[in-house]
Amino acid sequence: MSIFKRLFGICETRPPADTGCWSYTDGTLEIRLDQAPELSREGGAIRLEGPSLPKRVLVVHGRDGRFHAFHNRCTHLGHRRIDPLPGEDKIRCCSVGKSTFDYAGKRVSGPAPESIETLALEADGDKLIISVA
Ligand code: FES
Repeated sequence: MSIFKRLFGICETRPPADTGCWSYTDGTLEIRLDQAPELSREGGAIRLEGPSLPKRVLVVHGRDGRFHAFHNRCTHLGHRRIDPLPGEDKIRCCSVGKSTFDYAGKRVSGPAPESIETLALEADGDKLIISVA
């Protein structure tokens, strides 16, 4: 990632190309995997945000073969967004601080004072059900 992107907090993970792949109702975020090809490969990710969601969400198809969901908010001062770290089982803040976390949300390195929030996720056939409290 370029220093320019880090200075301005521009993350690598994009929103899904098909905005109809997800819906949110009463604390539950549902993602239809057949409409979210970004999540078809390990290391893939999408970010979901907007007025209909109570918090920004990052969903990652982990290198461990499992799906993981996070509140997309670094705990360091700038509260920048996070991205999967290519080639590693980790998540990294897009800012110059580069705080890094494992899939359990635990801080591994960087200036972030706390873990990032993980969101409960259940795979149900071709759907992911995520609890966004
Ligand atoms: S905002 Fe994440 S390391 Fe600073």
